[in-house]
Amino acid sequence: MIVKIKRISQGDRASLRQWRNDPEVSKWMYTNHEIGEAEHNAWFDTMLVDASKVYWKVVVDGDAVGAIFLTGILDPGNTCEWGMYLADGDVRGKGVAQAACALSFRYAFTDLGMKVVNCEAVAQNENAIGLYESVGYVRTGLQVDAVKRGDEMLSIVTLELTRESWNTIESQVLQKLHEKGVNING
Ligand SMILES: CC(C)(COP(=O)(O)OP(=O)(O)OC[C@H]1O[C@@H](n2cnc3c(N)ncnc32)[C@H](O)[C@@H]1OP(=O)(O)O)[C@@H](O)C(=O)NCCC(=O)NCCS
Repeated sequence: MIVKIKRISQGDRASLRQWRNDPEVSKWMYTNHEIGEAEHNAWFDTMLVDASKVYWKVVVDGDAVGAIFLTGILDPGNTCEWGMYLADGDVRGKGVAQAACALSFRYAFTDLGMKVVNCEAVAQNENAIGLYESVGYVRTGLQVDAVKRGDEMLSIVTLELTRESWNTIESQVLQKLHEKGVNING
């Protein structure tokens, strides 16, 4: 399997809305209403020209299967936010997400010179938190009932990955990917 990340462009507009509206994805987001075309287009057009954000699609053997992104990259202190999802259930659990993580972290730490990358997950999202910990993220906190989504209150786990942690764990992650038959240098 060859995994790449490629910058999101105009041609990815419809896919991104479809992925984000997939119930398996939206159930873990802070808003989970069906995103209409007008709402999506307004967000997408702003995102494309926003210099503080980098959005990629995750591409497996030529097929786009999800998204991965950095936000707040212009904030002071060389820290930014990070997130991802895979919308194609068939590719989950095979190392694709770890591969995309590795590629995005290289960009964040090497190309952008970030010192810390932060992320958050709904506290019940064990797959996401398990993935994040498998690539070096460390939990920094639990915010109980921090996000109101309709009638529910969501608790949030916060995590951080430092450049040092990534430098330490990168070779282990690459070895794991090699064992899973995932190539990120293709
Ligand atoms: C979260 C998500 C990206 C993970 O993708 P994936 O394809 O399963 O991830 P990978 O196969 O690349 O890596 C999974 C790693 O996490 C670990 N993991 C997965 N589920 C786990 C769990 N429930 N508990 C502990 N570890 C877990 C795996 O063991 C593996 O690590 P290992 O190689 O050390 O064993 C995917 O499930 C997804 O897109 N979910 C829906 C959207 C979402 O939740 N996005 C994140 C929002 S915060």
